[in-house]
Amino acid sequence: MLIHVYKDAQEVGKAAAMIVAAEILKKEDCVLGLATGSTPIPTYKEMARMNKEGLIDFSKVRSYNLDEYIGLAPDHICSYRRFMNEQLFDHINIDKANTHVPCGIGEDHEADAKAYDEAVEAAGGIDLQILGIGHDGHIGFNEPGDEFISATNIVTLTDMTIDANTRFFEKRDDVPRQAITLGNRNIMAAKRIILLATGKDKAPAIAAAIKGNITPKMPASLLQVHPNVQFLLDEAAASLL
Ligand code: F6R
Repeated sequence: MLIHVYKDAQEVGKAAAMIVAAEILKKEDCVLGLATGSTPIPTYKEMARMNKEGLIDFSKVRSYNLDEYIGLAPDHICSYRRFMNEQLFDHINIDKANTHVPCGIGEDHEADAKAYDEAVEAAGGIDLQILGIGHDGHIGFNEPGDEFISATNIVTLTDMTIDANTRFFEKRDDVPRQAITLGNRNIMAAKRIILLATGKDKAPAIAAAIKGNITPKMPASLLQVHPNVQFLLDEAAASLL
């Protein structure tokens, strides 16, 4: 595990975008695993800037997002598909047909999860996975539990996650209680992972993920055994290391 500490969230974003650029330089049709939430926003802004300036070409890049809320249509203002379009895809020269976000409104969520799992594997797996981390240590929406869930699955969000994500909705009751998320197998199978964390509120989860026991009660701790993972942290998120 490599741990890099930067001054602030903007510097984390610049470093992460540079890693994305290097990945695309190495493989123009690489498969990016993407996350939503506040943390990757500076990274996505920097990726858009680099694309605009001709430094990165996304025209052949493929992407698979980690997760989507169950019950939210792609055009819902709080859906992760909409988030990705607004924060990244609308600002870069990626072919939207090559971007994938799990479906949260299908009739058979289990079948959708299986299909998404298979699609990621058929694409050759993820070359570079960008992760954030929840206050409870979740990666994707793989919440703490008694076992590591392997495949893409339907999860019930913890109260801590619902509380944290209420800021994106009008009120707490509007936050969906379930999500569809890539499983730990897809995440761990990624050839390279960068986990981004910024802010003091992420410091306890980061310390537990890096220094604590490997346990499904702290899903991000599983990354300790990934052969190619980098933590990109700002000083506040690294403050308990
Ligand atoms: C989002 C995701 C989540 C977030 C995590 C942190 O696609 O998979 O694991 O990365 O909840 O969210 P923020 O960055 O908003 O603190």
